[in-house]
Amino acid sequence: EKGGFASFMAKEIADQPAAVADTLRGRTDQTGRLMLDEMHIEESVMRSVDKIIVIACGTASYAGQVARYAVEHWCRIPVEVELAHEFRYRDPVVTEKTLVVAVSQSGETMDTIMAVRHAREQGAKVVAICNTYGSTIPRESDGALYTHAGPEIAVASTKAFLAQITACYLLGLYLAQLRGNMFADEISDKLGELHRMPGKIAEVLGRMGEVETLAHSMADATSVLFLGRHVGFPVALEGALKLKELAYIHAEGFAAGELKHGPIALIEDGQPVFMIVPTKSGRHSLHAKVVSNIQEVRARGARTLVIAEEGDEDVRKYAEHVVYVPRCPTLMAPLLTVVPLQVFAMELATAKGLDVDQPRNLAKSVTVE
Ligand code: F6R
Repeated sequence: EKGGFASFMAKEIADQPAAVADTLRGRTDQTGRLMLDEMHIEESVMRSVDKIIVIACGTASYAGQVARYAVEHWCRIPVEVELAHEFRYRDPVVTEKTLVVAVSQSGETMDTIMAVRHAREQGAKVVAICNTYGSTIPRESDGALYTHAGPEIAVASTKAFLAQITACYLLGLYLAQLRGNMFADEISDKLGELHRMPGKIAEVLGRMGEVETLAHSMADATSVLFLGRHVGFPVALEGALKLKELAYIHAEGFAAGELKHGPIALIEDGQPVFMIVPTKSGRHSLHAKVVSNIQEVRARGARTLVIAEEGDEDVRKYAEHVVYVPRCPTLMAPLLTVVPLQVFAMELATAKGLDVDQPRNLAKSVTVE
């Protein structure tokens, strides 16, 4: 069932354009209006939401962190993202106007199940974003929005992550539509952008030979840092998690703006640092700030491994290696920039002779608290 791929993970990475396309499919009516009927939450309730709390663990929580930037921008609703295992134990402020979004590939993560139960006891409405039909989390939630990534077998999550971001974006646009935060044509523009992403993800996948070569040259790395800002920050966290899980290498993700507040002390000669560079377009582009971070770490001897949008020549001067991804709007970029990081972790683990589908000490779904 690996379809000719060396591992389930390789197959699932290759499946990502389809995971996004299938998650988008069938969500609009003939007039282009978003229809998320399966959510089963009354429109009046959705209109009165005054806070969103995303609860999830691991990679799913990073999908929530990416979505926060989009949903706050589109809907003007405050969004918190909380690890499910922390949520319940801090006496969170939850009311009938709180919408809790539980994101889970398996739908069986016990920490997330317990957080869903707690939220519902407090009167919140809960929507599950889940990849597994009929699993516990959607069954115990008020409504569900399924990701259509198809079964994910490899322990490390890849295609589910892209599908989770896609589904969260659909939910954000749906809320904006219901609440009148955006005009219909703006919403259809955003949907159009989303529909163009599978083709761009496929383009990224077509260029991963260079990442494979890079990873194989780094099989003896003992520590890798990942820096990003805005939506690139959760991508950095995800890149670090993939490398820890698969290649057993110490890895940390940081918000690039935090560098001078401490982590820059880690930089020494030969330290590999991945930098996820923001798009140049957009009103408040952080591009120049991240380019100067690249310069700062390079000046201290770091190996600068840069992920940037096509046509970005500014990064070349300070980059040891640049992986270019197609241009796209800022909020869509995580669907592209995470892919080289997934491939890097998988290939580095492969170079070390490790089993990428079954990393040590991990289970596909964590059904104990
Ligand atoms: C990372 C990974 C885990 C899961 C987390 C949540 O590659 O797979 O961090 O994302 O355990 O699992 P689900 O989404 O099934 O609730």
